[in-house]
Amino acid sequence: MTAELMTGIAELTTQAAESSHDDDRLLDAALVIENGRIAWIGPAAEAPAADSTVDVNGRAVLPGWVDTHTHLVFAGDRAAEFEARMAGQRYAAGGIATTMAATRAASEADLVASARRLRREAESQGTTFLETKTGYGLDLASELRSARAAAEVADVVTFLGAHLVPPGIDRRDYLDLVTGPMLQAVAPHVDFIDAFCETGAFDVDECREVLLAGRAAGLGLRLHGNQLGAGGGVRLAVELGCASVDHCNHLADADIDALAGSGTVATLLPACDLSTREPFPPARRLLDAGAHIALASNCNPGTSYTTSMPFCVATAVLQMGLTVREAVWAATRGAARAVGREHGPDAVGSLRVGGRADLQVLDAPSVAHLAYRPGVPLCVATWTEGVRALPHLHASRDLST
Ligand code: NIG
Repeated sequence: MTAELMTGIAELTTQAAESSHDDDRLLDAALVIENGRIAWIGPAAEAPAADSTVDVNGRAVLPGWVDTHTHLVFAGDRAAEFEARMAGQRYAAGGIATTMAATRAASEADLVASARRLRREAESQGTTFLETKTGYGLDLASELRSARAAAEVADVVTFLGAHLVPPGIDRRDYLDLVTGPMLQAVAPHVDFIDAFCETGAFDVDECREVLLAGRAAGLGLRLHGNQLGAGGGVRLAVELGCASVDHCNHLADADIDALAGSGTVATLLPACDLSTREPFPPARRLLDAGAHIALASNCNPGTSYTTSMPFCVATAVLQMGLTVREAVWAATRGAARAVGREHGPDAVGSLRVGGRADLQVLDAPSVAHLAYRPGVPLCVATWTEGVRALPHLHASRDLST
């Protein structure tokens, strides 16, 4: 297997240290990629010989984004609903039914094609690892199609049958379906189970029932909680040891304390908060209390129609009070924790000798530029498991200039 030396790295963010407080930056660095893995990291002046060399010429290199909350399997869009929201209407869970109807009408091939297009869009902005969910089928056949489509496109798949009780079915009957035959059908294709714990979707007891059924089927647990109002979602997630509780906009002190004393990651979704005009989650207080956080795009047609992790990172810095390093950590290593991929041979979100070579090159000398130059497409190349891709915007670009 050939070894590729990447040199000329002005700033290498490894995320190999155990927290975002530790210094994980190497200046004037180099690394070697071999067999999809990082084979060497160190000062450029000490780099070993390799079969080929790419000189990134004073740019910053960091792990690829780990986007752990997306809903890419859907058809149609909800631009009209978005416009109404921007004119003052409040977001409500019921909009999910609009996407459900379009998704049920689409073929599996079309669902795969559109999810793939969104994944490519994410990759062109530096994402190298991505989770996605079912949740717009909401009957057995459509959730199964969605689970298979998701498994074709994403690295991690979550079953979200408990997204909304679809029109035309009794609530109890739907819960029995989600926790019984639907779960059994999708289980071979998914890794996690999730539920939308919110007024208008499912209450705490219903979510507990869904998650426990998923656990009994061998799935990991995650939860949508405290998005539109205060409630018991976060505490349920902590009680059940969920890998992640996502949204977290409306938190009481007790929720922050519960998260801080737990291994559950609070996954924050700033693009969604802008698009729904919800208050941002108390990111600073969460971090200061000792909670773990992640940042994700929440790409979906209802509340957050963007695949851009750089946009989320910039927003977290500019509007949520995170430092650049905290935001970058939350979108890489913190996110890896939210899907149980922080440690071990399949770890993502960090650059370590022996680990996966999933990385991105910015057209900037440091990660600070992600927030300093918001909205500018800075990602000029990614390597995913050692394989290089050039984002379409920069396809003709030579990294050495
Ligand atoms: O994460 N909150 C629940 N689910 C999605 C939005 C679903 C929709 O409105 O289509 C979210 O924001």
